[in-house]
Amino acid sequence: MRVTGLIRVLAVIGTLVATWLFLRSYHNFNRRNIRLPRWLGMATQEIRAPKTKCGLSKPCPDNFFAFKICSGAANVVGPSMCFENEIIMSPVKNNVGRGLNIALVNGTTGQVLRKDSFDMYSGDANLLVRFLAEIPEGTLVLVASYDDPGTKMNGQIRKVFADLGSSYAEQLGFRDSWVFLGAKDLKGKSPFEQYLKNNPNTNKYEGWPELLELEGCVPRKVF
Ligand SMILES: *[C@@H]1O[C@H](CO)[C@@H](O)[C@H](O)[C@H]1NC(C)=O
Repeated sequence: MRVTGLIRVLAVIGTLVATWLFLRSYHNFNRRNIRLPRWLGMATQEIRAPKTKCGLSKPCPDNFFAFKICSGAANVVGPSMCFENEIIMSPVKNNVGRGLNIALVNGTTGQVLRKDSFDMYSGDANLLVRFLAEIPEGTLVLVASYDDPGTKMNGQIRKVFADLGSSYAEQLGFRDSWVFLGAKDLKGKSPFEQYLKNNPNTNKYEGWPELLELEGCVPRKVF
């Protein structure tokens, strides 16, 4: 009796020790496996890190929409717009053009209503006048310039953009860079705007200023 009891106790202890040894070596094996290829470990960490919408540096609070707007680079690379992590206009989507690229978004739901590009160098400015006149209340307006947003610009169009909250539409000219987010019933000026004048002394590219990037969180309109 005593001997079988002792054997049982020893067997239990042996199993525990074997389990512990196994777990320890397994653990070490795992850790070593992750540690050895350092670059792979870093890549895994990057994948695991929570990505923000549109790649913003900080996530937006609840009831805010994330957006990022990039103007075109010279007359070479087209502009792009991201809204709530969706690329809505870009060269890859093949829905951008020289001039002004404009997307309309429902300020409550974040749903994209319309997007279009307007040739402001050789196009018909009346197309843009008509487009702007049909913007419904409570709509967010995202704008990105590409190549030349200024040649066909007129007072009527400047006034609509100013009413949407733009501070720079008044002076927008030939080959300026401009990115803007405004709203139909905005009272006052939008904080979301960047502008660079085409100036041969400061231009980044020959004939064009630097491209502009605008990102932020715009509050959802709650009725
Ligand atoms: C935006 O969405 C709200 C809620 O669905 C709707 O009531 C409103 O009519 C929409 N506005 C536009 C301009 O689509």
